[in-house]
Amino acid sequence: MKVLDGRKIILGVTGGIAAYKAAVLCRLLVKEGAEVKVVMTETAKKFITPLTMATLSRNPVLVEFFNPENGEWNSHVSLGMWADLLLIAPATANTLAKMACGVADNLLLTTCLSAKCPVMVAPAMDLDMYRHPATVENLRILSERGVKVVEAEEGELASGLSGKGRMAEPEAVLEAVCSYIAVGDGSLEFSGRRVIITAGPTVEAIDPVRFISNHSSGKMGYALAASFSARGADVVLVSGPVSIPAPAGVKRICVVSADQMYDSFLAEYSKGCDVAVFCAAVADYRPETVSGHKIKRDGNEMMLKLVPNRDIAAEAGKIKMKGSIHVGFALETDSEMENASLKLAKKNLDMVVMNSLRVKGSCFGSDTNQVTLIRSDSEPVFIPMADKSEIAGIIVSAVLTIMNA
Ligand code: PMT
Repeated sequence: MKVLDGRKIILGVTGGIAAYKAAVLCRLLVKEGAEVKVVMTETAKKFITPLTMATLSRNPVLVEFFNPENGEWNSHVSLGMWADLLLIAPATANTLAKMACGVADNLLLTTCLSAKCPVMVAPAMDLDMYRHPATVENLRILSERGVKVVEAEEGELASGLSGKGRMAEPEAVLEAVCSYIAVGDGSLEFSGRRVIITAGPTVEAIDPVRFISNHSSGKMGYALAASFSARGADVVLVSGPVSIPAPAGVKRICVVSADQMYDSFLAEYSKGCDVAVFCAAVADYRPETVSGHKIKRDGNEMMLKLVPNRDIAAEAGKIKMKGSIHVGFALETDSEMENASLKLAKKNLDMVVMNSLRVKGSCFGSDTNQVTLIRSDSEPVFIPMADKSEIAGIIVSAVLTIMNA
């Protein structure tokens, strides 16, 4: 059985050079068992022909409200009801803006407004358009409404410039589709749940060139985000600077310092949170003052006064929402179990995931981890060394057990 067997997907294609990738994507979706109907905008037809898309999807391509040959109405309402997923790839800045505002001036946009199924977009545009505040805001609005965003990738762009804006490769979009609607087939236990995760390191500036940070790569937190998302959750990832892409369908908020992470996390938390996971390695201290210019070496000793950062997990613990589950991590080097257990009560956590720097292949930067899940009302559960994605899956299942208790 193929992952997308029997799944009905509307593939929306909008007008950008990345429209050629829609052909490969369409083929991959069909190969994976999906029934695909393609809806194109007028501009998309300038980049790729409806004949190509019709041949690959094995269905007529829809562009206009009426079939010009026989006057038959292409009903956006029944299209929206037919589909299990509306996937727009590539999604131009123009279409994203119109979706955010509820504009309905073509068949694809009216279908978006009528769709009862999940909507996923794979943006594609030039880097300046992608990072323009209007586009950033439109994507934020759409993700808040539950639209899954398959983030654009970095690389060479049609304009000749290089940066973020390339549509994710068709294989990556297919993977996002599979994990979103199929992998959790019948077991999307976190559907409708909002999960907020902190991940990565924080960076505390000393002067314009120097900083205090740590070795967190973000891999553990990102694996958790991917796992919660694959099981149906709406995931917000508040991430320090890392070099890995956000998992498909996850809303990522990039921050630098502990202060920014604290503010971003609590702003998201105030919008509602079913599960909070504190996986970030947050700097406990920051320099009291940040020099505006590069500090010069004068050969003398130098004192750097550090002041404590606010504790995100502890603060969230004080305002914990009824029914919400908080999971903290404990990164220990000694007296692991005692130290980690203390954090349960101190930060009002439901579970602490303890990992030890003494265990080779664990913690910072590695693809694997070995953890112990600690709760106040049951025996600790030891999870032997495994890929971080596997560990993430086990943590997510443990959260589900707490949720259903
Ligand atoms: O990113 P990777 O390379 O994959 O590495 C993963 C990891 C080692 C960073 C991760 O598994 C981990 O252990 N994260 C927590 C690291 C940490 O800061 O632990 P801690 O024991 O110092 O903090 C306890 C808890 O309080 C943590 O949940 C932490 O996120 C949270 N905290 C700490 C300080 C602070 N100011 N705010 C917080 O929210």
